[in-house]
Amino acid sequence: MRIDVVSVFPEYFDVMGLSLMGKAQEKGILRITAHNLRDWTHDVHHSVDDTPVGGGAGMVMKPSVWAECLDELLGLDAPDAATPCAGSSADCAGSPVDRAGDAAPAPVVIFPNPSAPLFTQRDATELSHADHLVFGCGRYEGYDARIPEYYRSRGVDVREYSIGDYVLNGGEVATSVMVEAITRLIPGFMGNADSIVEESYTGENALLEHRQYTKPAEWRGLKVPDVLLSGDHGKVDRYRRDEALERTNEIRPDLIERLDCKALDKADRKTLMALGWEVSAAHPRRIR
Ligand code: ADE
Repeated sequence: MRIDVVSVFPEYFDVMGLSLMGKAQEKGILRITAHNLRDWTHDVHHSVDDTPVGGGAGMVMKPSVWAECLDELLGLDAPDAATPCAGSSADCAGSPVDRAGDAAPAPVVIFPNPSAPLFTQRDATELSHADHLVFGCGRYEGYDARIPEYYRSRGVDVREYSIGDYVLNGGEVATSVMVEAITRLIPGFMGNADSIVEESYTGENALLEHRQYTKPAEWRGLKVPDVLLSGDHGKVDRYRRDEALERTNEIRPDLIERLDCKALDKADRKTLMALGWEVSAAHPRRIR
């Protein structure tokens, strides 16, 4: 997978050479390049922003600089300056087929944005199959809304995602979160593929994970649950599954509501019923 990240602070992404992400790059599974948006400016001040049209606080990132950068990274021809893009895609010079080298895999452009749909494990899984991702990190009050609009009109798959209901100083942290969530799902990235399957939020029936313990069996007076020391794999699996159901019920009941009852076994149903759920319909329903 090729990942291009565009930011006014490209050094922020130096950390992507560390740990598993660094190893994946050494193995050739992944290539991450951080670019400085200011490299596509032409003025002495290398300015990337301007005041908001209609007034208001802060500055907004200019479409012209982003467009020069994205045209280059996506291999798109710039439209003829004499033919302004106004409205429909038919009005825009160029289309996805203009991309230099038709054989290049279709890239996905992602703009982190606190006012966008939430990025979930489902999105991470889907994007882990892409060949080329381009992340555009906004700063200040954000980026001109015509940037995603224009590239969509050229047939580019442009996504905007929030990573949570809080506001960060820019898109860099959100990009790091998404890059990590996506790249660890690339085949060959993790040493042990099982660790992905067992984790919270993965699979059709997403539950929070059971708690983990290591040795010693007793530490500062606190004991590991006996069943985990029993050597009975069936009992261990059931204990962990029940704990996952109990923790999810307590912390994220919204995930219980989304479970597919058909995928629950008899013991799951019994546990959920004891926790106050009715499990005879398509999804569990809280009854007490
Ligand atoms: N930029 C600023 N805050 C953000 C958030 N919560 N998610 C994505 N991008 C952001």
